[in-house]
Amino acid sequence: MKDKILKRFGEVFGTEEGVKAYFAPGRVNLIGEHTDYNGGHVFPCALTIGTYGAARRRTDNQLRFYSMNFEHLGVIESSLEELVPSKEAGWTNYPKGVMWAFGEKGMKVPCGMDLMLFGNIPNGSGLSSSASVEVLTGYILRDFFGFQVSNQDLALIGQYAENNYNKVNCGIMDQFAIAMGKKDNAIFLDTADLSFEYAPIALEGAKIVIASSNKKRGLGDSKYNERRSECETALAELQQVVKINSLGDMDEETFEKYQSAIKDDVRRKRAKHAVYENQRTVRAVEALKANDVALFGQLMNASHVSLRDDYEVTGMELDTLVEESWKVDGCIGSRMTGAGFGGCTVSIVKDEAIDSFIEKVGKAYLEKIGYAADFYVVEVGDGPVTL
Ligand code: GLA
Repeated sequence: MKDKILKRFGEVFGTEEGVKAYFAPGRVNLIGEHTDYNGGHVFPCALTIGTYGAARRRTDNQLRFYSMNFEHLGVIESSLEELVPSKEAGWTNYPKGVMWAFGEKGMKVPCGMDLMLFGNIPNGSGLSSSASVEVLTGYILRDFFGFQVSNQDLALIGQYAENNYNKVNCGIMDQFAIAMGKKDNAIFLDTADLSFEYAPIALEGAKIVIASSNKKRGLGDSKYNERRSECETALAELQQVVKINSLGDMDEETFEKYQSAIKDDVRRKRAKHAVYENQRTVRAVEALKANDVALFGQLMNASHVSLRDDYEVTGMELDTLVEESWKVDGCIGSRMTGAGFGGCTVSIVKDEAIDSFIEKVGKAYLEKIGYAADFYVVEVGDGPVTL
């Protein structure tokens, strides 16, 4: 892939001289959904698929972008003077947002660059192609200009860019999972204070299978921000009667005791999901550490039910994929992953059942939804690298 992107860089931008190649992964979240902006736990891992980048410094302030995924768009030109926050104005807003964010944090990008990207994460699939581009851009800026930032800082800067430049109120999970990824490990992250530990994903005789619903979504056009504010209102109502900083501070019992303080049924369901999902995530990681993959799978299934019924972020496509997955012998657990409303499911499937899983779930999905799903047997990979 390195040779391919360098060659294309030379064709599009004139010469390969002075160009360097990079990679940042995508991510999948195993459990802990819609908890990262509620002070709860998440359990994502980086993948070996992601975004490849080739970049070269310029002597002026011009920015030239090219994506091998959108060849028809050609070279997109901009400049460091034109970094203006705006909502959903094409893919270049992700690298531009990160350049802008470095400037906001006192690390002004000193010169322009030519940047070519190629991603092998399906676009809009909920495997964080955008966070992958953000972390990749930050990694390149650090490499080019020697900015004193850690990988964790790259995650925070990526999130800052997404929140303030792209106006999507995302949590820290995606950028963190990507910037801090570690081969064969998932990251058990407490989003309340960013403390984390790596947990080996040693799935004896089973693999992670991702199914893409091919229903496109963007966080901006989803109800993501609405869910966030429902949780914020519910938290404020609970804080009238109990001393907590976030929904992640509550266990199920405390929630049941005080839930009547939430004055609206819908908001109560949203908060319930956030509280229960957080506790489920803690238990799931314990189960995995104890080698109880079956329990881990059951908790994944329960996570989906909660996202479907209480948080209401699934939809017919994701529900069909998951409910069909549950029917397959050898499927240990299955749930939607990411923001929801479209995108992907994540399942743990026994090796010998993978072929029939893909066949059965794929067939049922096509029949019911009218278009095909795509399946990926994935591996857990490292964070960003220079190639
Ligand atoms: C998106 C956001 C994350 C997280 C998930 C839901 O992926 O970017 O911060 O909130 O949705 O768990």
